[in-house]
Amino acid sequence: MDADSIYKSVVEKDEKYVMQTYGRKPLLFVKGEGTNLIDVYGKRYIDCVSGIAVNATGYSNQRLVKAIQTQAENLIHVSNYYYNIPQANLAEKIIQITGMSRVFFCNSGAEANDGALKLAKIHTKKDNFISTLHAFHGRTIGSLGTTANQKYRDPFVPMVKPATFVDYGNAGAIEKAIDKTIAAVILEPVQGEGGVHVPKNEYFKEVREICDKKGILMIIDEVQTGFGRTGKWFCKDHYGVQPDILTMSKAIAGGIPMGAFAAREGLSFGKGEHGTTFGGGPLASAAALAVIETIEEEKLLDNAAKMGDYFMKKLAGMKRKDVVAIRGKGLIIGVEFNHECAYLMDEALKMGVLVNVISGNVLRLIPPLNITKEDIDRVVEVIDSIQKPVQ
Ligand SMILES: Cc1ncc(COP(=O)(O)O)c(C=O)c1O
Repeated sequence: MDADSIYKSVVEKDEKYVMQTYGRKPLLFVKGEGTNLIDVYGKRYIDCVSGIAVNATGYSNQRLVKAIQTQAENLIHVSNYYYNIPQANLAEKIIQITGMSRVFFCNSGAEANDGALKLAKIHTKKDNFISTLHAFHGRTIGSLGTTANQKYRDPFVPMVKPATFVDYGNAGAIEKAIDKTIAAVILEPVQGEGGVHVPKNEYFKEVREICDKKGILMIIDEVQTGFGRTGKWFCKDHYGVQPDILTMSKAIAGGIPMGAFAAREGLSFGKGEHGTTFGGGPLASAAALAVIETIEEEKLLDNAAKMGDYFMKKLAGMKRKDVVAIRGKGLIIGVEFNHECAYLMDEALKMGVLVNVISGNVLRLIPPLNITKEDIDRVVEVIDSIQKPVQ
């Protein structure tokens, strides 16, 4: 089949058989190399989406590919009734890089947050949570209660129990919202889906103090920011704060589905209180170990910090006059425009650059952590060159 026929047949099957929940772009990718995706026609794209902050080590990373191949030849899955070597080694590594005490492995970001909420509930014996406006913590019945967007949440109330939502970046608002029913507050260290909002540095320390004073738990959701995205292993390290529970997913296993939450000393589920079939399986765990090794050996934390600064400087130097704000930390960057900017996503892809737009008017840039200055120069050139369409 030629490329056109393959493309048409895939779209037809998708439209006929897949629940139409996603607004897909007219693109069919078949391969990835470094920071590039390649479509069915052989056209290359510089990827500033990374499967939504998943492909941190870039595409076709040989260490990752080999780790997956080797593990697949030996053992892909085994029940959590038994021990497995990669899970034990990964657990040790996660505890080293997070400074937490124990970890539980699951399969996605929403599941990691669900587990964190359950742990907070069972530990405190309290039922309610505080979250923030514009927060995104997932779509499961549990995590959805802490996701701010009512459009996602409302159809599922009362099965979904909404949290109390307060302004992001205002520690006093959290203090005010605490009553004797609150188990924990859940916070992203940089709000991702909500529009790339970066709080002031003191915010997390202030919240930590309030949680300690009032006896509630602090959950930090690093599903999007973890594993080097902000230039440190976890964004909490910029703020010098340890949460009671830290959640993670996305980049952890280089695209093999995995999530995890880690808790401080004295905070853990007991036997039978939580569980999952696939969590911490040998294949995903071996992939995660390879991702962590790659980040260490290729010095990707450093690269994310340096390239993040470079990216923001280049963006600030653009000629276009419709940018309201550029914000970010390392390689999670938001460019806010004074108008809806979905057209930028569509025009950029025609020019071989993948970006995505959130909250209507914010361009989000979350490239692989091994992005180069040359890639960034091209991405900024493309963004700067796209004219706002005449209404
Ligand atoms: C901060 C944050 N938490 C949780 C989630 C949910 O993760 P998943 O889509 O893997 O369930 C996301 C996904 O974008 C996220 O950005």
